[in-house]
Amino acid sequence: MIILGIETSCDETAVAVVEDGNIIKSNLISSQIKAHKRYGGVVPELASRMHAEKINSLIQKACEQADITLPDIDAIAVTEGPGLEGALLIGQAAAKTLSLTLGKPLIHVNHLWGHIYASMLATPRPQFPFICMLISGGHTQLLLIKNHFDATLLGQTRDDAVGESFDKISRRLGLGYPGGPIIEEEAKSGDPLKFTFPKAMLNIGLEFSFSGLKTAVIQEIMTLEKSGESIPVPDICASFQYTVAEIIQHKCLRASKENNCNTIVLSGGVSANQYLRQALEDMAAKNNLTVITPPLAYCTDNAAMIAVAAHYYHTHISTTHSQNFTVKPNLKVT
Ligand code: KG4
Ligand code: ZN
Repeated sequence: MIILGIETSCDETAVAVVEDGNIIKSNLISSQIKAHKRYGGVVPELASRMHAEKINSLIQKACEQADITLPDIDAIAVTEGPGLEGALLIGQAAAKTLSLTLGKPLIHVNHLWGHIYASMLATPRPQFPFICMLISGGHTQLLLIKNHFDATLLGQTRDDAVGESFDKISRRLGLGYPGGPIIEEEAKSGDPLKFTFPKAMLNIGLEFSFSGLKTAVIQEIMTLEKSGESIPVPDICASFQYTVAEIIQHKCLRASKENNCNTIVLSGGVSANQYLRQALEDMAAKNNLTVITPPLAYCTDNAAMIAVAAHYYHTHISTTHSQNFTVKPNLKVT
């Protein structure tokens, strides 16, 4: 079964062709980062306009690269939410038009399930049940994934998402957007123990709070600025990243013990962070747990994960798909 996936929830226009849920025939991403960079974050109107500009040529290119023509497609998958309303509408309009003209089913996919299903592209694939630590720009959630599209929310952030704190600290340091990869790079030459930052809510259940950590890092930067000292950017980045890793390790271990579940999946854009991946693997090795992360190319937003999730939905949940749906900017996993 060949599925064409379309993802336009934020600032990447993405189209992929995936066969049988695991053969990636093409996976194209047109990033808008350059355009949004000078504003320090995503400008919704600009995102919609750029999706509209790029979507048709990207669909064409994705088919060419996959060596297929439009009639070869068995189904179209599109992100229905969460995300920016106008941005989601562009992807959905393109997907609905394709579905109608080709007479092929249209499968709507929750972006968050897309991130979770990206882990099905890993070798080995996670087996149910597993704990999923979903860390992206907008979400920080610990989930128990019991079966296909069947999840229980174990805990989530009460304020900032992990990716959001990377982005805000990067912006405060004048390093640019998106902050995650830049901070990871800076941290490579820094001392993770140079500064001690707070690990809020570490011993309170499976909830998270990253706003206090972000504020503490920003306060440290302000204190250094006031004292006229030069800012040790790599040390700040390394100490911040180390603190995030400690929190994630601790909460994942607790979730695993409390739910008697020894597989942990790390997913979402922040799971592209090699330091975090390694930290979680080290914790898992000490505790006889298994950590599974999506291959790097499928951690941050992409359309392959949307097509993969659609494949599993179609094969395990339902082969009939309502066409009367619209975008859901605030969609949740559960
Ligand atoms: O999943 P994603 O691409 O988009 C959302 O659904 O939000 O995640 C984007 C987030 C951004 O906050 C970005 O800074 C962060 O993921 N990110 C990273 C890394 N790569 C992307 N954070 C830390 N380290 C990275 N290497
Ligand atoms: Zn995402």
